[in-house]
Amino acid sequence: MTLQDKRILLIISGGIAAYKSLDLIRRLRERGANVRPVMTAGAQAFVTPLAVGALASDKVFTELFSREDEQDIGHIRLARDCDLILIAPATADLMAKMANGLADDLASTILLATDRPVLVAPAMNPKMWAHPATRRNHATLVADDIRFVGPASGEMAEGGEAGEGRMAEPLEIVAAVEALLEGGPKPLAGRRAIVTSGPTHEPIDPVRYIANRSSGKQGHAIAAELARLGAQVTLVSGPVTIPDPKGVTVIRVERAEEMRDAVLATLPVDIAVMVAAVADWRVAGTSGDKIKKKPGEAPPPLQLAENPDILKTVGHHADRPRLVIGFAAETQNVAENGRAKLERKGADYILANDVSSHTGIMGGDRNTVKLIGRAGEEDWPDMGKQAVAERLGRLVVSHFS
Ligand code: CTP
Repeated sequence: MTLQDKRILLIISGGIAAYKSLDLIRRLRERGANVRPVMTAGAQAFVTPLAVGALASDKVFTELFSREDEQDIGHIRLARDCDLILIAPATADLMAKMANGLADDLASTILLATDRPVLVAPAMNPKMWAHPATRRNHATLVADDIRFVGPASGEMAEGGEAGEGRMAEPLEIVAAVEALLEGGPKPLAGRRAIVTSGPTHEPIDPVRYIANRSSGKQGHAIAAELARLGAQVTLVSGPVTIPDPKGVTVIRVERAEEMRDAVLATLPVDIAVMVAAVADWRVAGTSGDKIKKKPGEAPPPLQLAENPDILKTVGHHADRPRLVIGFAAETQNVAENGRAKLERKGADYILANDVSSHTGIMGGDRNTVKLIGRAGEEDWPDMGKQAVAERLGRLVVSHFS
């Protein structure tokens, strides 16, 4: 049984699709799962707790301030004592509460208190699903790592209206639960990867530094994707403000030399993806004291020294990883410069992009890259940095299979 002994907290919120939750519970239990139901007040207007409780493997929880339930188990334990929280159906209202961190009933409080994966099966009128407010809430929840299954298109139960908004079918929801709990296939299991990300900060004195506009979004997304595919990933990151990716060992550094040392310490690995925008130069003879301005004197000159090229070092290392991938941030002659970098740095692939300020790539959420390999080139369409990470993940997998 695919879900043997998995503990699923099923939140049923108010909508006509709640009647399908009865079938959903049956399907989950057939596969060995334990289903603990939570119903909102709205849900109880559509199906009775008696019916839900009869099918589930646990009592039905409905009240936030139930003295009996709180003594017995409590909403915090409800939020944590499970492998997955599934919301089916999820109303527009519950999505709005989640996106805004509201906690005014048992279901929303559990969702705010949980650290478990959450899978949402929305069900609502197509106009509500398409409303800009719901679009915003959906985007917020996706960014918060909440997973979705559906909604599907078709006739609404209330009749007359069609469009996107119908709850996914129970078997589709079960498949999404299985994929999430099993984590999908792990084609890179047993492989080790090193990824660099973000900018470097090169100090001038104790308070000043030279930096660049890299956000770390692309490098972090790649590290997370390789980990999702089963690789054991070390991410060496310069100073960034985005959160650490899940399932990855993160080493934080500031300067290029620190980044190089951290990268070399991880060798040997199978895969190296160097995404960091490493400063080409550092300040020679940094001052231990803050440089003061002196009235009447010329501004101090900045002497620069060349930084180590980390990609080049790894690409020519005695312990060279089987697969070495670099990026090339260019503002002109993207393909030509990218090809030259492939050779010079000893990489298998270079992902070249045009970082002229009008492209908004540096620091932004999207990327348009040209993949340059030994066998040729390929233009990837404009896509989100997450999508670039997924496509690169497939390329890496194809190399090891
Ligand atoms: N890189 C690196 N160490 C450096 C500089 C760059 O590891 N000191 C890596 C980057 O992570 C990226 C690739 O090299 O994968 C290309 O970096 P880029 O700055 O675009 O190229 P440069 O080597 O600086 O070449 P140029 O100055 O000619 O653009």
